[in-house]
Formats: sequence, structure tokens, C-alpha cells
Amino acid sequence: MAHTERVKFGSKLGIILATAGSAVGLGNIWRFPYMTGENGGAAFIILYLVCVFILGIPCMISEFIIGRHGASNVAQAYNKLSNGTLWRIIGFMGVLTGFLIIGYYAVVSGWCLQYIFGSAAGHLKGDSAYINEYFINFSQSTWKPILWTIAFLFLTHFIIIRGVQKGIEWASKLLMPVLFILLLIIVVASCLLPNAIEGIRFLFMPDFSKVTSDTFLGALGQAFFSLSIGMGCICTYASYFSRDTNLAKSAVHISLIDSFIAILAGLMIFPAAFSVNVQPDSGPSLIFITLPNVFLQAFSSVPVVGYIISLLFYSLLSLAALTSLISLHEVCTAFIHEEFRLSRRRAALIVTLTGSVIGAFCSLSLGAWDGLQLFGKPLFDIFDFVTGQILLPLGGFFTCLFLGWYVPKKILKDEYTNWGTLRGTLFGIYLFCIRIVCPICIAIIFMHQLGWI
Ligand code: TRP
Repeated sequence: MAHTERVKFGSKLGIILATAGSAVGLGNIWRFPYMTGENGGAAFIILYLVCVFILGIPCMISEFIIGRHGASNVAQAYNKLSNGTLWRIIGFMGVLTGFLIIGYYAVVSGWCLQYIFGSAAGHLKGDSAYINEYFINFSQSTWKPILWTIAFLFLTHFIIIRGVQKGIEWASKLLMPVLFILLLIIVVASCLLPNAIEGIRFLFMPDFSKVTSDTFLGALGQAFFSLSIGMGCICTYASYFSRDTNLAKSAVHISLIDSFIAILAGLMIFPAAFSVNVQPDSGPSLIFITLPNVFLQAFSSVPVVGYIISLLFYSLLSLAALTSLISLHEVCTAFIHEEFRLSRRRAALIVTLTGSVIGAFCSLSLGAWDGLQLFGKPLFDIFDFVTGQILLPLGGFFTCLFLGWYVPKKILKDEYTNWGTLRGTLFGIYLFCIRIVCPICIAIIFMHQLGWI
């Protein structure tokens, strides 16, 4: 297998857009704003950016190295470098985590589709009690959310089966620019509203009194989730990189794009929310309850603008979700395709169907079947918490230890410098980060959270 030429992304732009497409998703536009709202605005953003630069970028470079070196699915890539030792478990854990994330990610993606449909049909009109009820009725009903979840997974499926270049790369090159334009339009509309400055102030003036110990784990988990690291997603994409891709530079570019888009998402949501005096700290429902209200009220003098903005907003969310779900799907598809020697089509179908089943359970756990609980919380919340705040940071932690202390330094240096053709600026710092800084920081935040220190 090592001798067959592996499929590759066709261009540098394709590499950046596809990987950024994985990173930019619901994490940026749905999760980042509500985490920021709940954790004191700018103070959270500062912590978040520190996590991205000190922990996120080194972990991303590490996944790039493992993926490009392995030139195979994530389990095989870790296996190759681990020489059959227990370290290879990290790769399998990645695939498992992937399935869990697909489960709840597809559910929220499905909600976005319903909301495109709802805004287009003019259903998202009424007072705030009505909008609240609309979301509760919809998300807690049995069939509707499941059907949208499955529809979204099949949309992803049809892109995945077209392959790496004609499917993933093509979709990213098309969708990412559209996503960016939609985002800019809504940011401008939101910042032009009266009193928008309050929202901008909230976003950029730190209030450290709201920072608690949970904020740190929140910022860490969010950085990992948003950059798609900790479960082999980036590693799988890197297996399609060419030998002359500058790994460190790409990681910096992708992290900058991702953080920039998250902050733009904040600039889209907070000015609008503050302009109509809505407190934006309402948790995951921010996007589906608070925002439709905000759009209605903010543009009440010209309702057609509210209608268009709401339609554009949910389309934007769906596009962002789609490119990310593609990357999650690809991790599992590549694994099944290569490890079980099934055709890519069959492997993709297995992932789509399994994802639909997990998604259905997640969705049902939100209301229709409230018996689907673990530790008193719906399966949906458990999956979000366990993957985002536990499995991803743990995946990152072990990946750093593995590359930093187990894998021969020569392999790292070769990959980092493209076999000596690049100067390898900051290689020493990178190595120091993955050997010492990342494992210690992740461990401290973790133990603190568990109440051990
Ligand atoms: N990063 C994506 C987002 O911000 C979600 C995502 C895609 C992801 N692939 C991942 C999260 C892998 C964790 C791990 O929405």
C-alpha cells in the first residue's frame, strides 16, 4: 500500500480552503458566540486566542505531521508511527470520537436546514414567546429533526463519494468564498443598527470578573473544537497534502482564518443583540431562539430586510456546517474504506447510516424520548461535553506526548522542514511546546476542572 500513489488535494489553495472549511463551522458561528456571551465577552476571547496560539497551532502541526507521514486514515497513521505499541489507540479513539461528534453535529446542522426553510416560508414571525415555542416544538418533536438530520448527512454523503479532489476540494473552493461573503453582508447590516456600539464594546472590552475556572476549560475545549483538532480530522486531511506543503505556515494560516471568522461571527451577533437590548448569554439556543427575535425586532421598520438577513444567516450556518461535517465524515469513511477494504461508496454509506442512527438518538434525547439520558442529562449534551471538553483535549494531550517523546525527532524535523528544503523556523519552539507546554497546560486545566488541584 505504501507504494501506491495516494490521492492528493490538487492545489495549495485547495489545501487551505478544505482544511479551513473543516475548521470553520458551527463551532465558530453557533458555539463561539454563546460561549463568549456566557463567559464575559472579550475576556473569554483573549483566553481563547491564547489557547489557539499556544496549544492549538502546535497540536495542528502535530496532526499534519502524523497525517502526511502516514499517508493513510487516522488509525493507520498512528499505527505506523507507533510500531504496534499502545500509542496506536489514539488513532482508533479518533474514529470513535468522530462518530460521536457526527451524531450531534448533524442534528444541529439539520436544525439549520429547517430554519432556512422556516425563514423562507415566513414562519419565523411573531412575538418572542412564539419563536421560543417554535424552537421547542420543533427540536423536541420526533420525526422532523431526524429527517433534517438524515437529509444533511446525505448531502454530505454525495460530496464525499465524489472523492477528495472532485468532492471535498471542489465543495470547499465553492462554499468557503460564499460563506465569507454572506458573513460580511450580515456583519455590515448588524453593525449599522442603532446602538450597535454596545455589542462591539462587549466583544472587545474584557470583563475579567466573569472569568471562572470553568472559563479556562471552556476556552481550551472551544479552541480544539473550532480548529478540528484532537481526533484525527486534520490528520486525515493532511494525508492528502503534497510533500511541498509548508505545514507550520499552513497551520498558522488556518488558525488565523478560523479565529478571524469566529470574531466576525461575534460582530454579526452581538451588535444586533445589543441594539434591541437582548442579553446574548442564553446558551446553545442563542442562534435558534434569541437571534430570530433579534432579526425581527432589529429590522422591524423594513421587515423585508429582516427576512433576507434571516434567510442568509441560516444559509451561512448550513454552509459552515456542511464543510465541517464533510471533514468528520471523511475521517470515518477513510478509516472504513482502507481498514476493511470496502469501496469508498460503501464505506461512506456505512458512515452516513451509522451517523443517522446516532443522530436520531441524540435528537430524540432532547425531548421526544427523555429517557435517553446519562447522568441526568440528554444524550445530546453528554456527547457535546464528552467529545468537546474531554476526548478532544485528551486526544491532543496524547498526540503531543507521542510525537514529542516517542516518535524519533528526525521524522518530525523532516516533515516540519519538508526534508530540509525549508528553513524550519521555530522548530525548536514547536518541539518545546509539544513536549512540555501543551501537555502541562492541558493537564493543569483538566485536573483543575476535575477538582484535583
Ligand atoms: N471545527 C468544526 C467547527 O468549528 C467542527 C469540526 C469538524 C470538528 N471536524 C472536527 C470538531 C473534528 C472537533 C474535531 O464547527
